[in-house]
Parts: sequence; structure tokens; C-alpha cells
Amino acid sequence: MDKHPIGVFDSGVGGLSLLGELKSLLPHEDFIYISDNAFAPYGALTAAEILDRSGKLTNWLIKQSSKLIVVACNTATTNAIDSLRKTHPIGFIGIEPAIKPAALQTKTGVVGVLATKGTLSSKLFHQTSSAYGQDITIVEKEGKHLVKMIEEGKINSAEIKNLLQTYLQPMINEGADHLVLGCTHYPFLTPILKKILPKNIQIVDCNVSVAKQVERVLEKRKLHSTSVNKGITTYFCTGDSKIMRQFVLSEDIKVVSIA
Ligand code: DGL
Repeated sequence: MDKHPIGVFDSGVGGLSLLGELKSLLPHEDFIYISDNAFAPYGALTAAEILDRSGKLTNWLIKQSSKLIVVACNTATTNAIDSLRKTHPIGFIGIEPAIKPAALQTKTGVVGVLATKGTLSSKLFHQTSSAYGQDITIVEKEGKHLVKMIEEGKINSAEIKNLLQTYLQPMINEGADHLVLGCTHYPFLTPILKKILPKNIQIVDCNVSVAKQVERVLEKRKLHSTSVNKGITTYFCTGDSKIMRQFVLSEDIKVVSIA
């Protein structure tokens, strides 16, 4: 089992931000990454549609002999991971907006959360924000269009900068000192965010903690690779491979149809 790959999925290139941390923490593991870009963005889908896509990608990753699945998407985690765990005989690790560390560290008592509509409207997100947000103010904002624009390769556009300015201003006005990036696509916007945000606002994502959690689960389940060689990552997508090729700087992206 230890030789088998870890399956990682997202609606698009966002999960590559988490995959980067996984690869540096677990250099001897093999990974299969799949971007479901034919169906992105997930944030605009219903909870039932997100569950349907997540189930299909999970089944496909299991067929590729994955030993563990990383749901590298906040929207899929918050809408589908509980059901996936009940219906599939494999371990899952997901990613959720990092409200807890931000709530523990805030000095102003105000934390901003930028996430998709699907994440912000999910039951799991409400549970987490009410559990950790009791004594603080959480200013939520939907990052409408951001995922679509990142998938279209518009990361450095004036359009995306303007949208971010509009989305972040209410948090800045309310005195937030932490901005939680509740979508794995958003860490790719960090250079622009740093230009827009006042210096006292800390950007929080939980890619490193999720990677550490994956390491713990591998050890606990005795699934970790014992190889001394550098692991191999194979990339797939369900739609056009252009953006993936740009992000991973490789031409070797396989296109698969998962209906
Ligand atoms: N990367 C996904 C997330 O973390 C993007 C969701 C979407 O496709 O809207 O939420």
C-alpha cells in the first residue's frame, strides 16, 4: 500500500497551492492531482452537485489506486466530505477556512473571511464559524468571479485587483487584522493582496497545517511511502489543459472525461 499515490482533487488549479506544501513535506510520496475544470467553479453549484462531482472524482481516484484522498477544495470539503467519508472506504483529508487560528490570534477581534458562495453557505462552515467566532466579529465576503478569473489566467489583471479591493474594503473598514483565505485558489492572489491590504492585516491560509495533517494520517494508518526516491506527481484535468500547463510548467497534463 505504501507505494500507492495520494489522490488530490479540486475544481481547478487552486488545489495546486496545497499540493505544493504536500510535495515539500512529503517528498517521497507519489501524487495524482485532478482538476475538475470542466465543472468549475464549484462555488456556483448546489450542494448536491458538489457532492456528485466530489463522489465521481473520488471513485476515479480510487480506481487509480489512491491510498488516501486529499480534498484540496474548501467548497468540496465543506459541502461533501462528511458524505464522502460515509460512502467510500478510504481516508479523506479536507481543507476548511482557517477561522480557528485567526480567531485565536486576532487583537482587534475582527477577522475577515474570503470564500466561495458554496463554502459560506455550507453547514460545516456555519458550525466552524459559530464554534470559534463567538467572541469575535467575522466579516464574510464571497469572492465572486475570482475562481473563474484565475482559471482564465487573469491573476495579474486590473479587473481582479478591482474586485479584490471591493471585496476587502468592508473588512478593512470594520478593523479586521486577519484575512482568512477560504479557497485554495486564493493563495495565488497573495502578491496582489499584499499590495491592497494595510500592513497590519495578516493573511491566513491553512495549507501547511493540512499538509501536516496528511503526514500524521499517513503515519497513523501506516500508509507512508518507504521509498528513498523522489516521488512522482501525475496531473489530470477534465477540461482544457491550458491553465494547468501554465501553473505546473509542464506539457504533460492528461485530459480525462469523468461524467
Ligand atoms: N479551490 C476551490 C475552493 O477551495 C474553488 C471552488 C470553486 O471552484 O468555486 O473552494
